[in-house]
Amino acid sequence: MDRIAITGGFRLEGELPISGAKNAALPLMCASLLTGETLKLSNIPHLADIKTLKLLLEGHGVKTETVNEGSMFGQGQTINFTTKTITSTTAPYDIVRKMRASILVLGPLLARVGEATVSLPGGCAIGNRPIDLHLKGFEEMGATIELEEGYVRAVAPGGRLKGGTVLFPTVSVGATENILMAATLAAGTTIIENAAREPEITDLANCLNAMGAKISGIGSRTITVEGVDKLHGTEYSVMPDRIEAGSYAVAAAMTRGELELKGENLLDAMRGSVGVLKQAGLEFTETGGGVMVKLGRDKIRGINVTTQPYPGFPTDMQAQVMAMMTLCDGASVINETIFENRFMHVPELTRMGADITVHGSTATVRGVDHLLGAPVMATDLRASMSLILAGLVADRQTFVNRVYHLDRGYERLVEKLSAVGAKIVRDANLGI
Ligand code: EPZ
Repeated sequence: MDRIAITGGFRLEGELPISGAKNAALPLMCASLLTGETLKLSNIPHLADIKTLKLLLEGHGVKTETVNEGSMFGQGQTINFTTKTITSTTAPYDIVRKMRASILVLGPLLARVGEATVSLPGGCAIGNRPIDLHLKGFEEMGATIELEEGYVRAVAPGGRLKGGTVLFPTVSVGATENILMAATLAAGTTIIENAAREPEITDLANCLNAMGAKISGIGSRTITVEGVDKLHGTEYSVMPDRIEAGSYAVAAAMTRGELELKGENLLDAMRGSVGVLKQAGLEFTETGGGVMVKLGRDKIRGINVTTQPYPGFPTDMQAQVMAMMTLCDGASVINETIFENRFMHVPELTRMGADITVHGSTATVRGVDHLLGAPVMATDLRASMSLILAGLVADRQTFVNRVYHLDRGYERLVEKLSAVGAKIVRDANLGI
């Protein structure tokens, strides 16, 4: 089991390339099920979740061809996805349990061949995360849904979904993406109300329109989809990862360094986070092909933060900002409204000397002078990043265990941080 060791106290300086967004690449890959022609996706990050989904798609009959492996730093891989025929409509438990996003094959399979049998995702570290909103949406489009032995069996009567009005009582990124993809091939028009507005959904909708879909209201709360009979192939580049960028912006601020994050339209993609990070004292300056970021004051300013659906402050940045607030000038109150169990980084940060108290979904963080290196345990993807960030500034050495969580969402993290001055190594045999 690999561990990461970090020796704290080194400023980060230089250029850091931002990879393609995991949470855009995953639904875009699922969109390849919607057409018999080739979908060529570029800037796909090298991540564990991408490998898992590729395996799942190949099980459905998707032929994948890696056109370009991409480079060591930043430039992602280019892969052709071609689904001439769907060879299986079952998404098996042993894959789905590894990655909740597998549920995003449900809508495309239903749309393409009128049926799908997908394992229920099961719980995950940050909450039980049901899929009731996905299933209710498909029922609104005429699908019959049955649950049997831990699997969802969905069927479109007559082999084709029909357009309908899908009103989400609460905002859901995945459910919006699933219904959006299914609606592209439905008979008639679908209206999605209270749709999630994350940039990754805009990326997906733009790609679907390039494939011949007829989607309007992209990026707004109400999306209208006029169903078509077929979609064709296209070429599309995955947007940069706004959460990776936000995570490294925090790293620059915490180490009092200065990083140039390289990627197209980064500030725009980071819109949900930039306001909060500026409040905390970070300064952003656009450069040609990226954005320069540093802390523009002596100490991090203590601020109050509440996670919200986009364009609010993203829950995926909550753990990283909490790490930063452990050293703030004064105190910070962080309110997590999206997931019911997304404070698992708190006990680990506390082991490093942070002063954090949690009441329900609210954490109060009182700034301390410094953090102490310690062996800590990663529990989920973003919590792992908060521990890496703390290790970058803690005294002595921090050992982060269970780093496979990081591999799900941060491409070549050790290489990228080492290249800008961090003292960080990864090795299965690191002492504890
Ligand atoms: C997506 O997850 C992201 N994952 C998550 O990123 C992100 O945290 C989340 O959106 C919120 O922004 C991908 O895009 C692959 P939701 P998703 O459906 O779609 C509840 C990361 O770190 N809900 O918007 O699963 C749910 O329990 C990951 O990169 C229902 O109740 O999130 C949660 O409390 C973590 N019923 C809330 O809605 C449903 O049918 C938001 O979930 C669906 C969701």
